[in-house]
Amino acid sequence: MPPQGSTIVMPADEPHAGNIELTENTIIVVLGASGDLAKKKTFPALFGLFRNHFLPKDVKIVGYARTKMDHEEYLKRVKSNIKTPTPEMEHQLDDFLELCTYIAGQYDQDDSFQNLLKHLEELEGGREETNRVFYMALPPSVFIPVSQHLKRNCYPKKGIARIIVEKPFGKDLGGSRELQAALGPDWDEQEIFRIDHYLGKEMVKNLLILRFGNTFFNATWNRQHIDNVQIVFKEPFGTEGRGGYFDEFGIIRDVMQNHLLQVLTLLTMERPISFSAEDIRDEKVRVLRCMPPIEPGNTIIGQYGKSVDGSKPAYKDDDTVPKGSRCPTFAAVTAYIKNERWEGVPFIFKAGKALNEQKTEIRIQFKDVTSGIFKDIPRNELVIRVQPNESVYIKMNSKLPGLTMQTIVTELDLTYRRRFSDLKIPEAYESLILDAIKGDHSNFVRDDELDASWKIFTPLLHYLDEHEEVVPMEYPYGSRGPKILDQFTESFGYKFI
Ligand code: NDP
Ligand code: BG6
Repeated sequence: MPPQGSTIVMPADEPHAGNIELTENTIIVVLGASGDLAKKKTFPALFGLFRNHFLPKDVKIVGYARTKMDHEEYLKRVKSNIKTPTPEMEHQLDDFLELCTYIAGQYDQDDSFQNLLKHLEELEGGREETNRVFYMALPPSVFIPVSQHLKRNCYPKKGIARIIVEKPFGKDLGGSRELQAALGPDWDEQEIFRIDHYLGKEMVKNLLILRFGNTFFNATWNRQHIDNVQIVFKEPFGTEGRGGYFDEFGIIRDVMQNHLLQVLTLLTMERPISFSAEDIRDEKVRVLRCMPPIEPGNTIIGQYGKSVDGSKPAYKDDDTVPKGSRCPTFAAVTAYIKNERWEGVPFIFKAGKALNEQKTEIRIQFKDVTSGIFKDIPRNELVIRVQPNESVYIKMNSKLPGLTMQTIVTELDLTYRRRFSDLKIPEAYESLILDAIKGDHSNFVRDDELDASWKIFTPLLHYLDEHEEVVPMEYPYGSRGPKILDQFTESFGYKFI
């Protein structure tokens, strides 16, 4: 039986260049097309959209990077991460590759961008009105020159331009404002789509529906009923091959200030007036502005050492990592929201690389059950598993069937792969690129949202950068993290059930 439900009412915003759906006359330019993100995520997502007929009619996809590649070499790269398990998909891939071309050029030279423009104009066949979507799959060091050269050389004379920018958006509040100040004069906020790919994940997109579409959740979603919340990100692999990048950023900048904070925002914001992009983002900014900077005292940091059996390397064994690096590969920090709904509730972020498993989840622990008729009855806990194996389950108390009055903790469980076994969950990047084509900004980060989120983390980040005596606690590769972790979580009220 197909899932039954209602449809979300989408408001009719005033149409403007930023929210018009691109249905034709469109070229997507992937800058940094020789890179890791383009290969692993961007091209597979574009193919996914193409085969499901979601790309604009007669779209063309142009790759751009410095690496010199001939057409065949480039196509090999484009398809290297695309899976085609059926003959039909093989054919679809052949059709997709017909749309793809590549131009090599520098990131800081007008000549190179003029060359790109010439190529775009050839593909556009002299059409007057053209839409161009620029996807910056590039390291942050070249965001600014590339965006400026694009504006100067490749901005359409008539038609719509969009620029999709990848994280990291700066390294702190100052850096983020610099980036903003550089993009601002050239690109209108409505033309900018700042990707945080967690906002494209199915379960993250479900958060507002779960909260506001269910009276029983909505009614208990506050400090009167919730004791503490954890937002957890665990990866079972280290920074292998990315040590150079990672050492400059660390786990807090890499996943916490962006991905996990976005999850927290959706989890805690007030009900938006509508599902329009601006109404949602207004509420997100409001809740972020209620969060004071995180206290260094409410933080622990760790760095992975070798695995217990010695088979997996320590973080510092990577040649691209400086020998005395203090870079955290693990952090647990507790934040608070000073508003009517959340005052006093600890929000504990935990994120780490080289841990014992892969998991991103939200754990909401409710307050103690009133005692009296019960002795030591455990708390309820709602778990929203973002990945892998998307699910929502509530740990609840029930009578153990039988002749005694014994209780047992059991689960009300919505596991997607059981309930929605015949539905495919789209990749986050598919969902977000489609939103950018449609002009839907709801799942992209707005400039004031970025500012508010950096304000929460920047003082802590500066403290950690500047205080050399603060060294991360070592934990073995493949473990649960630093030993002190459970004590830390318990100190904010979490009770292990
Ligand atoms: P890469 O390091 O693979 O860089 C992409 C391309 O940019 C390279 O192929 C290279 O192309 C060019 N490039 C690399 N370093 C420099 C440099 N120092 N100066 C100028 N050009 C350079 O990055 P990714 O593809 O991994 O990431 C791109 C962006 O996406 C980054 O902002 C990253 O943070 C973000 N991101 C990446 C994810 C991933 O899974 N990889 C996940 C989420 C976000 P050429 O030399 O041919 O010009
Ligand atoms: C990226 C981080 O933004 O997100 C990576 O730079 C991290 O370090 C990745 O591994 C996690 O994304 P996902 O979708 O695999 O959870």
